[in-house]
Amino acid sequence: MKKLIVGCSNSKELAKSIARHIKKDYTKLLARDFPDGELYLKYQSNIAKKEIILVQSMHPQPNKAMMEAIFAVKTAKELGAVKVTLVAPYLAYMRQDKRFHRGECKSNSIMAELLSCADQLITIDPHLHRVHKLSEIFKIPAKTLTANHILAQFIGKKYKNVLVIGPDEESYQWAAGIAKEACAEVLVLHKKRYSSRKVKVFLREPEKVKGKNVVLIDDIISSGHTMIEAVKECKKAKASSIHCICVHGIYSENALPKILKAGAKEVISTNTIQNKASKIDVSKLIADNF
Ligand code: R5P
Repeated sequence: MKKLIVGCSNSKELAKSIARHIKKDYTKLLARDFPDGELYLKYQSNIAKKEIILVQSMHPQPNKAMMEAIFAVKTAKELGAVKVTLVAPYLAYMRQDKRFHRGECKSNSIMAELLSCADQLITIDPHLHRVHKLSEIFKIPAKTLTANHILAQFIGKKYKNVLVIGPDEESYQWAAGIAKEACAEVLVLHKKRYSSRKVKVFLREPEKVKGKNVVLIDDIISSGHTMIEAVKECKKAKASSIHCICVHGIYSENALPKILKAGAKEVISTNTIQNKASKIDVSKLIADNF
């Protein structure tokens, strides 16, 4: 069956690159706003009888990005696509995986239900915390890829005398694996989150950090507060240099300059979300699945 890779608003470059890897046709989904803010979408290639691979990261503008993806999936089916795969390199709404307070919306399962209009979903390092597998919330086959190997290779090649640090207990799962593959030591900090903008991290073994090139690694940098606090702790412990790496660089509320100001030498992410810090390419990782 003929495959067509479609770049939605947030992931045109990534989609083009996937198409190049698998040597298939690429088209961009035309997306505009009507004067009232509603979304106008148009396929510019023939969709009928094809396998459509839509690529749409759910950031920036997660609500709009999600609506565009849903409209695009449903339209592709109406236009006769045989199979529609949604590649959402960054999957939004995964962190609200519980009703933390009475009356709250548990967004992850609703997001999954809405995106289950596709035939298949592929994503990278979704934030799995209280939900352990995407199959717990998705009704369609949902494949989880990981950028760990790519990150480990990047770290192994770029830095010497490295200490990989996960900023909280949760991050140990990927920090340990990445450190092992990059032949580096690993440490995990302890985090207490008071609100979405207030966190405190504690470094219990500062002697291990002194003189090291620290690579702080996390799945997501959002407001940046986790990284800022972790950078400050490592600076206090006299790290030789501090580098922040994440899979999904959201960098809301000017997080990037704030992390640099706190003392990080650089902040780097993958291109699951396209921005000026996204220097690690995941297109081949995705392409290998087609
Ligand atoms: C939390 O559990 C995640 O792994 C990240 O540490 C968190 O999402 C980062 O958020 P922020 O940048 O807003 O501190």
